[in-house]
Amino acid sequence: MRNSEIAISLKNVTKFYQKFQALDNVSFEVKRGDFFAFLGPNGAGKTTTINVVTGLSNYQSGGIQVFGYDTTAEYLHSRRLVGLCAQEFNFDPFLTIHQLLVYQAGYFGILPGEASRRADALLERFQLGEKRSAKHRALSSGMKKRLLFCRALIHDPEIIILDEPTAGCDLELKFLIWDYLIQLNKEGKTIFLTTHYMEEAEKLCRTIGIINHGRIVRIGDKKEILQDKSLEAVFLEVTGPDD
Ligand SMILES: Nc1ncnc2c1ncn2[C@@H]1O[C@H](COP(=O)(O)OP(=O)(O)OP(=O)(O)O)[C@@H](O)[C@H]1O
Ligand SMILES: [Mg+2]
Repeated sequence: MRNSEIAISLKNVTKFYQKFQALDNVSFEVKRGDFFAFLGPNGAGKTTTINVVTGLSNYQSGGIQVFGYDTTAEYLHSRRLVGLCAQEFNFDPFLTIHQLLVYQAGYFGILPGEASRRADALLERFQLGEKRSAKHRALSSGMKKRLLFCRALIHDPEIIILDEPTAGCDLELKFLIWDYLIQLNKEGKTIFLTTHYMEEAEKLCRTIGIINHGRIVRIGDKKEILQDKSLEAVFLEVTGPDD
């Protein structure tokens, strides 16, 4: 790794979808080993940020590095360091879940024997061993979430990026995912996740970033941000018109 202390760095990144500006001069850094929660309302630009970091989308100006590697000019280096749990399920319908993981490992140059061993170990770790020969359509939604984890981890990335990992999960799966993430972070992995749940950010992360309308609103230590009165919401309940 060229820069071992800064896991992700965005500098003045601007992204347009045709005429619509989804990211407006976005700059921030995620330190190695950090647990970073990226918050913002629907349409704020969270997934777009993930897409430009992981190379799924292009961008018009600025620069992005992963551990010091430029994600465009040096994408072979940068992509190997990142594992992505996407917001949507996007599995190949014709493969068993074991094959799916072996194919994914192949994209990173891992040979079939080693890939198969890693796939089995991950399927066991995420309690999917019994479903090894099933296709993803035969999995429950919570199992598919766990499969997303396996696929993100198959090449042993340094950074795990998760786009709303617990959306739609029941309480048991949510706690299971939280435990996995805490453990991965303890093992030294950098975690970057998006969430709509303040409770999730509060419980798991050390650093919070907030984005709205494609602009970074705040980046900082969790405790500082949670104590910031200007970010508090006040709800008024009105009973009817005044006489
Ligand atoms: N492929 C696309 N083409 C055109 N516009 C897009 C595309 N993808 C996203 N957008 C727009 O970019 C903006 C940011 O979308 P994005 O998916 O990044 O939001 P988000 O913060 O992830 O929201 P959510 O919480 O709903 O997942 C939205 O206005 C969205 O409509
Ligand atoms: Mg999104």
